[in-house]
Amino acid sequence: MSGHGPKIPMTSHASGPLSGEAHVPGDKSISHRSLILGALSVGETRVTGLLEGQDVLDTAKAMQAFGAQVERTEAGEWIIQGVGVGGFAEPDQVIDCGNSGTGVRLIMGAMATSPVTATFTGDASLNKRPMARVTDPLALFGAQAMGRSGGRLPMTIQGAADPMPVRYVVPVPSAQVKSAVLLAALNAPGQTVVIEKEATRDHTERMLAGFGAEITTEVTEEGRVITLTGQPELTGQTIVVPRDPSSAAFPVCAALIVPGSDVLVPNIGLNPTRAGLFETLRDMGADLTYENPREEGGEPVADLRARYSPNMKGISVPPERAASMIDEYPILSVVAACATGVTEMTGVKELRVKESDRIDAMARGLRACGVQVKDGPDWWSVEGMGAGNVPGGATCETFLDHRIAMSFLCLGMASKAPVTVDDGTAIATSFPIFGPLMTQLGAKIDTAG
Ligand code: S3P
Repeated sequence: MSGHGPKIPMTSHASGPLSGEAHVPGDKSISHRSLILGALSVGETRVTGLLEGQDVLDTAKAMQAFGAQVERTEAGEWIIQGVGVGGFAEPDQVIDCGNSGTGVRLIMGAMATSPVTATFTGDASLNKRPMARVTDPLALFGAQAMGRSGGRLPMTIQGAADPMPVRYVVPVPSAQVKSAVLLAALNAPGQTVVIEKEATRDHTERMLAGFGAEITTEVTEEGRVITLTGQPELTGQTIVVPRDPSSAAFPVCAALIVPGSDVLVPNIGLNPTRAGLFETLRDMGADLTYENPREEGGEPVADLRARYSPNMKGISVPPERAASMIDEYPILSVVAACATGVTEMTGVKELRVKESDRIDAMARGLRACGVQVKDGPDWWSVEGMGAGNVPGGATCETFLDHRIAMSFLCLGMASKAPVTVDDGTAIATSFPIFGPLMTQLGAKIDTAG
């Protein structure tokens, strides 16, 4: 939803040990894809563990607007009656994707090869984000886009009535762009080839195969070459959404920096295209273990155990790891502030075009909390102050970005003075139970009003 209520500030205070189990919500990326592929299938798709964050709820509404039946049966349990590949109806209202770049970009892809026209909008954050990265490849299929200057929302897409398959090299490391092209390719005849130079999260490829599409991935010198045969009949599936490693990052990192903590975060997907943060934390010397490692639904899963780690050291994060932890740099920078030595993060230009400019948002707030940060167009570095030494005591602006809000609230739990965020409302987009879950572990968080 693009309408915003009033800002609601939140404050976190130095907290006692965090302990217990943190049951984080379902994976946001997989939740969006379950709804969209369910809508593009024939028959019924049943989803359990769906993230009921605002981003995903907006995608559910959009799928209804394109003609699918989407129904919530109980908490986290949803049933979708799909319309089949090429079966999208023309929505009679503007599609409002709220705060969600994933939602809008994937849905634009899914409708771009059907003879329907749809207008998309979002909130103040989404309406600033670049869409040409998606509409450029969609134009190759024959879709036409008309938006605001700079390729921004609101934007109308006229789907191609007679789509052609494409061969596309994704110019930025983006799973959203790759996925938009693959979803568009579903209704184009023949084979579409998408090439990515750097591996990004592969949930779309895995799920397309699960729904019955013919899709292959070959690792070549050019990169990952993904070939999809168009116009398959996708069949409704049963999907169990794993818990989100990007949400798990918050209780894990908070436990590492709050004295005396010992937190178990069960059932976290450790797909290698998503698990970069946990490897990085271990490289820094974090006491983070993977317990009970197993496979579920073709994905590696483990229970994460994080214990207070006062001796972590800054490192240079390998740039080739960036895509596998792209959403986790804000919370990593908080851990880096509580470690000793400098943490360097390079090859992270994409952070500048997320829900906010995440390098800028974190650098401003960390500096206000007494931490030294340097930054350039595609890099930044944080000077660690050592466990327990971050002054805090500031109000940090969150720019409608859920991960910025949660990161600063975690920082306040380990700082000398409380840390306030100007607005915690965006947290509901991905992790609606963040406040109560962290409080139950022992965090001291106040919400204004
Ligand atoms: C996502 C891909 C990433 C990530 C976003 C979710 C996805 O964006 O930041 O939160 O589900 O495909 P980019 O593809 O723009 O890197």
